[in-house]
Amino acid sequence: MSDNVSNQDSRRRVAFVGSECYPFVKTGGLGDVMYALPRALIRENCDVRVILPLYRCIPEKFRNKLVYRGSFMMDQTMEGRTFFVGIMETVMDGVIYDFIDNREFFDWGNPYTGLWEDIPKYCFFSKASLAILNYLEWVPDVIHCHDWQASLVPLYLRTRFNDTPVGRARVVLTIHNLRFQGICGIQHLKYWSGLPDGLFDYPILKQNEDEANMFKGGLAFADKITTVSRTYAEEIQTPAYGEHLEGHLSYHSPKLCGIVNGIDVEQWDSAKDPLLAADYDAGNFRELKKENKKALQEKLGLEPDENKIVIGLISRLTDQKGLDLVNAIIPRMLDGNTQIVVLGTGDPRYENAFRYYEEENKGTFCAYISYNETLAHLIYAGADALLVPSMFEPCGLTQLIAMRYGTIPIVRETGGLKDTVLPYDAERNEGNGFTFGPYNADLLLEAVNAAKTLYFTERWRWDEMVARDMEKDVSWEASARAYLALYDEIIAWDKEE
Ligand code: ADP
Ligand code: GLC
Repeated sequence: MSDNVSNQDSRRRVAFVGSECYPFVKTGGLGDVMYALPRALIRENCDVRVILPLYRCIPEKFRNKLVYRGSFMMDQTMEGRTFFVGIMETVMDGVIYDFIDNREFFDWGNPYTGLWEDIPKYCFFSKASLAILNYLEWVPDVIHCHDWQASLVPLYLRTRFNDTPVGRARVVLTIHNLRFQGICGIQHLKYWSGLPDGLFDYPILKQNEDEANMFKGGLAFADKITTVSRTYAEEIQTPAYGEHLEGHLSYHSPKLCGIVNGIDVEQWDSAKDPLLAADYDAGNFRELKKENKKALQEKLGLEPDENKIVIGLISRLTDQKGLDLVNAIIPRMLDGNTQIVVLGTGDPRYENAFRYYEEENKGTFCAYISYNETLAHLIYAGADALLVPSMFEPCGLTQLIAMRYGTIPIVRETGGLKDTVLPYDAERNEGNGFTFGPYNADLLLEAVNAAKTLYFTERWRWDEMVARDMEKDVSWEASARAYLALYDEIIAWDKEE
């Protein structure tokens, strides 16, 4: 047998199931991972299909390219009400994307609306994902589900679909963010999922006397649980980070592991980024990176001055991201040599606070309250440092992108931030950024001040760190291999059984 043929034969088939995926629909890092990891797995010789809802908010330019692959009616709910399942498909760089079409569930929203509607929506989505795999006669070796929205997949797989072709698949569930779990009244979930009563017990879906928890059930039934950094895998087994599932996760810890995210280094490449004022690399950033700072200052109405340190923040504006710490120190950060740029949307509390600071500090503080990918690229390139002082951070991608763009991260030592940003060590002249431990505004300020001191007094040292960060491996390669090893471990169970 030629190598080629044996490669074909041994190629793993992996189906990704999740609620968002760049470039079709993205609200945060989950969208990035759903894009980048399948592409990395293709390079490792896997066949990958990504299954997504066909949301109304997916831009026309993508919808126009979708090809109809079939449709059928599927029963959903306790009463067996039937719903239309359409399959619309596109292929991009070798990855197959199957969108599930159903107007009642997906024809509105952005993509999330509110739990009351999202629960039925994602019950349907999880079940339909398995049904389309059978319909397409494409049985994966592994179904890789992401976050609570896809967390009923393991339960459907081992009940309603166990004796169907797709029942042969193994199932991995990845926790990107434990804060969101899909919790609702037991009757609501019983009705919409149509899952057997036996699953609504404490070790599985039951949360308390009145409520059911979709993530909890999925975690119980998955063959493997992963999360997006080693530190977060440890943290979620403690009350401080476990979001009330620490006991459940400790119980299931033999099947839990942390695999750190990467970023797509083609998508995020300062040497070939059409959205920058000037492309640059680790060799020429000293001359060229500042062109982006200039463009950023001009675009945002900041005082044009290349000698000011520009500190960026790109984030969903939620409690998770440590924004109360940032708010508490802004007046002390603005010392005449500093400019701050915030890009984000979310909780009005933070949006308004940042707007207030902009009003008070025109020319040195900019609050760009929106979601804007083009501006994000320019901030990653034009800022000198990026703040990520999160309360918790399963992995975090903004610090990885920042490092790749030679922008020094200032982070709290939690979750993936701790695993990816080595603290600066002046004596050894090593490290990737500035870090602090306990969740405390004064400690954040100390870290910011340490960064400023290095920037203003030992720029050559700062620049050496920039070069180190730009050369650091933040790609998906190593982590894609770690997932592959995990897939292989569970695929092998079939042979052992
Ligand atoms: P999370 O998934 O918790 O939001 P991550 O750091 O994993 O955090 O990923 C955030 C992703 O979303 C990054 O790609 C970041 O650049 C992007 N992002 C966040 N807010 C915005 C925004 N307002 N405009 C553009 N991109 C944003
Ligand atoms: C979640 C987490 C973030 C992580 C992302 C992708 O949204 O908040 O830390 O990077 O998922 O895994």
